[in-house]
Parts: sequence; structure tokens; C-alpha cells
Amino acid sequence: MALLGVNIDHVATVRQARRTYEPDPVWAAALAEIGGADGITIHLREDRRHIIDRDVRVLRESVHVKLNLEMACCNEITALACEVKPHQVTLVPERREEVTTEGGLDVVSQRERVAATTAKLQQAGIEVSLFLDPDPRQIALADQLGVNGVELHTGAYALAQGKQREHELNLLREAGAAIVTAGMTLHAGHGLNYQNVRPVAEIPHMCELNIGHSIVARAIMVGMEQAVREMKRLITQQ
Ligand code: PXP
Repeated sequence: MALLGVNIDHVATVRQARRTYEPDPVWAAALAEIGGADGITIHLREDRRHIIDRDVRVLRESVHVKLNLEMACCNEITALACEVKPHQVTLVPERREEVTTEGGLDVVSQRERVAATTAKLQQAGIEVSLFLDPDPRQIALADQLGVNGVELHTGAYALAQGKQREHELNLLREAGAAIVTAGMTLHAGHGLNYQNVRPVAEIPHMCELNIGHSIVARAIMVGMEQAVREMKRLITQQ
């Protein structure tokens, strides 16, 4: 059965909208753990638009399940990861102008950089996973680099409809089989939600699904009524 890694970046996005201290992703991580999260995932972006260095350090102390840090192959963040030592790093591509991670890492064109970052992280005792499109060439290279796992990018599957969705699911299944056959751990994520998660969770040997947007969106909806009631009580109490 697949494990659930909860991505709490969006909680930090709301905090950074006011540059204040709430909502604190550290609290959100604790509540996610109580809810059954098997892991907490955070993306430290180069522009620090949501998760900030303090979150990485405090979450390393407070999270009792697996902490997975998503990051680009950048020297400054690699140094921070080697110091803080999350259980796992997932290497992702990053472009400043993107709203979210738009595609898998291109190991073919960035082999040296990915190899050097992987080596530094593994020497620090951190497991390394690469975020890849379900592309056999990328997966073969990941195997050659000796990474511990691959997170398959499920974005194209999540966006597809009808027959195209079935096609994308088959690509994920084939890529998943190649990853497992090569002895790497199989993860998946991006765009997964309450409607589309099940077929991906059922891919054989699926180990971990990283899900953020739809869980945070749902949390706002299930929490709104109670939050308003609490404020109303404070205002109207005699
Ligand atoms: N996996 C990776 C590598 C990601 O970059 C993201 C988005 O930060 C996710 C999973 C989670 O995607 P979503 O927020 O769409 O669930």
C-alpha cells in the first residue's frame, strides 16, 4: 500500500502573503501527522516564496514521520540540506517564473549537475529521489546515477481526459515497472486529487504519493465553518 506524503507548501504561501507567523507550516505538519500522514514534504525554492530556511530547520526537529525536501540542484540549498539532513531529498527542476514545478527534471541535459548534487547529499546520509517524467531515457539515467528512488510526475495524467488519461496512466505503469526492476523506490506526485488518486495508488509497488494542493484546498473547505464560528463567538460573547 502506498504511503502518503503531505506537501504543506501552500500553508507557508498563505503565511508569506502577510510576512507574518501564521499559519505556521510546523503546526500544519503536526496536524497532518495526527491525520495519518506518513511523510511531510516541503519545497525550498530559490526565491523562498513559501517555505523558508527556518521552516526546514524547525520541521527537521518537529516532524516524527519522514521529512522529504524538494529542491533544485543549487549549491546554496544543497549545503543547507547537508547540514539539516532531511530523510530524503527530491531533486526537481526550478524556474523562477513558474507557478509550480512544470515538468520532470531533465537528467539527460543536466547529468553532471544532478550527479554532483546526488553525491553530496548521499555522502551526508540523505536518500535522493529524482522527480522525472515517465520517460524511459530519464529513468535509465537515474539508475546509472545510483539514486535511491524516482518520483514520477503525474501532472500530465492529472490534466488528461478520457482515452488520453488511460494512455498517461499506462505510461506511469510502464515507467513504474522500469523503476522497480532497476531496484529504485517508486514515488509519484503532482496534480493528484480526491478524484484521480486511486489508479496511481494502485500501480504495483507504489511506495509514496506526494500530495499538496488538493489536501490544502480541502482543509480550507472543511475548516472554514468552524473558524468563522470561533470568531463569531469571540465577537458576540457577553
Ligand atoms: N511532487 C513534486 C516534486 C512537486 O513539486 C509537487 C508540487 O510542489 C508535488 C509533488 C505536489 O503537487 P500538488 O501540490 O499538485 O499535489
